[in-house]
Amino acid sequence: MTDQELVRLALDMRNYSYVPYSRFPVGAALLCADGRVFTGCNVENAAYGSTICAERTALLKAVSEGCRTGWVALAVAGSGEDFCWPCGACRQMLYEFAPGLRVLAARADGTFRQATLSELLPHAFGPESLE
Ligand code: THU
Repeated sequence: MTDQELVRLALDMRNYSYVPYSRFPVGAALLCADGRVFTGCNVENAAYGSTICAERTALLKAVSEGCRTGWVALAVAGSGEDFCWPCGACRQMLYEFAPGLRVLAARADGTFRQATLSELLPHAFGPESLE
């Protein structure tokens, strides 16, 4: 799967977003080493703080399906003119499983930028911090 194809999946996942409050659909697609792709969208809630981001939806699908390692790349696609980088909570959750993850931040026109999770979350608190 190419980066462009992964971004395309993230863009398409926005169609499933449940966003009556922000009206800002976000899609995500997480590629694993064995070729599996776990997708996600944002799902909002009347209790706003219970909203879950697209990236964490994809993460929870992967972990709950037994895929905790070998994460290769995560594409995130928003709906604005800006590149859609993961929020702080998503960076923290992703760091737990894949500190070196390649993150592809896309915008609505399909163009994207790339950074590693370590670059996005320097001096992170992770599992090793508890040892
Ligand atoms: N959102 C995501 O899904 N991922 C991010 O990284 C940033 C924010 C969602 C949450 C909420 O449904 C909407 O975008 C506006 O914040």
